[in-house]
Amino acid sequence: MGLTEEIAKRRTFAIISHPDAGKTTLTEKFLLYGGAIQTAGAVKSNKIRKAATSDFMDIERQRGISVSTSVMTFEYDGKLINLLDTPGHKDFAEDTYRTLTAVDSVVLVVDCVKGVEAQTERLMEVCRMRDTPVIVFINKMDLEGRDPFDLLDELEEKLSIKVRPLSWPIGIGATFKGVYDLYDGDLKLFESIKSKIEGQSVHIKDLSDPKLDDQVGEDAANTLREEVELVNGVYDKFEVERYRAGRIAPVFFGSAFNNFGVKEVLDTFVRIAPTPAPRPTDQGTIAPDQKDFSGFVFKIHANLDPNHRDRIAFMRVCSGHFERNTYYHHVRLGKEVRFSTPTTFLAAQKTLVEQAWPGDVIGLFDTGNFKIGDTLTEGADFTFRGIPAFSPELFRELINKDPMRSKQLEKGIRQLTDEGVAQLFTQSIGSKKVVGCVGELQFDVIRYRLEHEYGAVCEFQQIQAHKACWITSDNEEELAAFIRVKHTQILQDKDDNPVFMAPSAYMLELERRNNPAITFHTTSEFKTASI
Ligand code: G4P
Repeated sequence: MGLTEEIAKRRTFAIISHPDAGKTTLTEKFLLYGGAIQTAGAVKSNKIRKAATSDFMDIERQRGISVSTSVMTFEYDGKLINLLDTPGHKDFAEDTYRTLTAVDSVVLVVDCVKGVEAQTERLMEVCRMRDTPVIVFINKMDLEGRDPFDLLDELEEKLSIKVRPLSWPIGIGATFKGVYDLYDGDLKLFESIKSKIEGQSVHIKDLSDPKLDDQVGEDAANTLREEVELVNGVYDKFEVERYRAGRIAPVFFGSAFNNFGVKEVLDTFVRIAPTPAPRPTDQGTIAPDQKDFSGFVFKIHANLDPNHRDRIAFMRVCSGHFERNTYYHHVRLGKEVRFSTPTTFLAAQKTLVEQAWPGDVIGLFDTGNFKIGDTLTEGADFTFRGIPAFSPELFRELINKDPMRSKQLEKGIRQLTDEGVAQLFTQSIGSKKVVGCVGELQFDVIRYRLEHEYGAVCEFQQIQAHKACWITSDNEEELAAFIRVKHTQILQDKDDNPVFMAPSAYMLELERRNNPAITFHTTSEFKTASI
């Protein structure tokens, strides 16, 4: 097969959700359909348990295990599907945001009882930044959930995206009888069977067909007729192009646990999900079918064993094709590198890969050459854009507890932040270092790793900080004046961009008002076009 056929065959996506909505369960069902796993429960055992919040080592250990499930590749309906895993734990949300830069679409799982939750909103914000196409799966329909119309309203309101149901539930919870496929006119009757692959399906093209009453009873049949009429009246017709542009999200209802409504999502996914998309660089867009290979690193996974300080860099192939043992250009370092043991993750097993194509994710053995966002090419000097840093939520000053080991501390914290474990902001005056994280657990991870991997002892001190805001202005003089006046609150990010450390929401608002010429950004994405 040539490059064009390889691209046409690939679909690279992630399943995202607020913890507990059913991401792991849905992933598992997809893998069962794809033949990548044989038994239910295979993915579950790798899952980071929410109960383990106090034991970060356990979480890290599980993160270690989860390397093999970081990318799950399987074939379905003639397509090669790369499913990228995202950590469920909210303290590692940044990992998820970065993974979203490497996919071409997402499936969003929403719990029908809880509706749109906090984490869902934040993940969708990231998707909207780059117009990522979204398919919504409303899960747990076997439970007493909310009214489907209310759920759809909430999706539109909270996620700022238009929705279009492609299936419609008949009842909910105890009265849940099945779903009606609005696309093909198939009626699927609900059976609560854990991992049954095929469910019962009855074809009813015309809803006035009395067969419907026979199947679900007169009352439920009439309700379905009314609701479908309403759906078709209220919601725009589904158009694939609008979905691919990230303008409209098709919605499905079902129960992942009961493997109900899952096949419909997967079948629709392979039919409509986009093939590997072009990606912007600092020198224009790179189309996947460009002959020369290019790719970028979106995730780095460290080995926790201090005797093996090797890491795996996850690279998304963006154009051309990658070959093992071939020299490629590491743009940031300006040097040629080659890989003898790149891995791929077909059938959930780490296997040596000889070549990879756009949309594929490969694991590259790394001894410290890579940072998140690094680009590899066949010689050209461009860099992929849009791997954003978000303002962390928690900030602590890093205090060195052993002055004899300050070099180790410096090296350690730089390497850990290159890996994306946390963000580092520095101040030249007094060489102050502020570490920003999304969750408390990350500070424990850093302290532990600095000590065990670098032999450096540190402490984190509370500081008064609410948000890290990247500051820009069209008026350079004003920006310089602001930096001068606020110098105690100005730090540099890893690329030396000035960042204003706002002590509180109130102060941030005040500075915004007092300095209209300056823009305060809460993500570093402003520097780049979306990917
Ligand atoms: P997550 O990855 O998004 O965090 O969610 P996960 O799949 O682990 O699902 C969270 C819980 O919801 C699990 O129960 C799972 O069995 C349950 N669940 C998933 N889909 C459905 C569904 O369609 N209906 C119902 N009723 N429950 C569903 P748990 O008790 O936390 O875990 P487990 O003991 O089942 O492993």
